[in-house]
Amino acid sequence: MEKYSQFRDKGTAIAPFLPVPAPPSSVIWAPFHAFLFVFRLPFVVSISFFYFCILEWIPMGSAVKYGVLWLMLGIPGVWWVDLQVDGVKRGQLHSARDNLPKAGTIIASSFTSPLDPLYLAGIFQPIFTRSYPNTRRVERISLFRAILLAFSAPKRSPPSSAKLVALQHLTTENPHKIICVFPETTTTNGRGILPLAPSLLSAGGNTKIYPVNLRYTPQDITTPVPGGYFSWLWRLLSKPTHQMRVRIATRIYNSTSQDSPSKQTSSARASGSGYDTNIFDHPDFRNGVNGNDGHDGLMAVDVGDGDGVSADEQKVLDRVGEDLARLGRVKRVGLGVEEKIEFVKVWGSRRR
Ligand SMILES: *[C@@H]1O[C@H](CO)[C@@H](O)[C@H](O)[C@H]1NC(C)=O
Repeated sequence: MEKYSQFRDKGTAIAPFLPVPAPPSSVIWAPFHAFLFVFRLPFVVSISFFYFCILEWIPMGSAVKYGVLWLMLGIPGVWWVDLQVDGVKRGQLHSARDNLPKAGTIIASSFTSPLDPLYLAGIFQPIFTRSYPNTRRVERISLFRAILLAFSAPKRSPPSSAKLVALQHLTTENPHKIICVFPETTTTNGRGILPLAPSLLSAGGNTKIYPVNLRYTPQDITTPVPGGYFSWLWRLLSKPTHQMRVRIATRIYNSTSQDSPSKQTSSARASGSGYDTNIFDHPDFRNGVNGNDGHDGLMAVDVGDGDGVSADEQKVLDRVGEDLARLGRVKRVGLGVEEKIEFVKVWGSRRR
């Protein structure tokens, strides 16, 4: 694995692009896994076909769509074991109204697996978007394309056919929808948060942005390497269950003056939200992350639009990145899309 040492973050020693191997399992279980796979596959294929080819296109009550999406997650045994919302005590989710994303807000989600968009659709039915590292505008995509995105190669810039819009435009045009952004632009194995694309900066200053982190146990159903549809399906369907943890941070605004929101955030944390007092909130840790010079150079976004990111704007992105890392109990890394593109080349040549 030494070959991949250049794809290990210097500061944290995290390698965010290496596929996570499946936990060891005895051969005795092989027939059981094969049975589960063969048994579930026809259901998953036909339900997906039904949803993406038919249901998605007909104006139906969203209840049916939610039901089918949950079935799609239920058949492979993806269980939602934990939901934590910043500022809301465990077991008091009914009081979480104000802390949950709702119509007119933006979700900034971590991105590790095709299950991320599927799950987010099952809860919020948002409008999905694709971000690119060098532009603030986003491309609106369907749920199906968001799922495929988790399997696709990282891109530096949008294809010329892409129709790009500002997030502010999307939120004003769709006041009854939540907008979902994957600001890392490409998938990781869930062990680190990549530098964020500037897409969130195109959100209006009054729009609430909720960082959301989705985490899976075991992590082998993440898809940090493009392709591999079949092996992913095997890993998904042959295992009896997969656990999923969802964490939602306090909203953030695209604004330099986060005064009140950020103060509320820290007091909500201090007053013991469901979070076990979090080492990530410890000042040393925060300084450690912020003061890491090795990162800053890489964090700077190479903006192709002739549209640089100012220091104040970078603070907004950093805040979202920090929240994503804190929620996922991981760290931010300096490796980004460029490094992933290199990694994919090296990974592909190894296998030939
Ligand atoms: C988002 O915030 C940044 C930094 O304050 C600002 O430069 C940018 O114009 C804002 N975007 C919008 C669409 O208001």
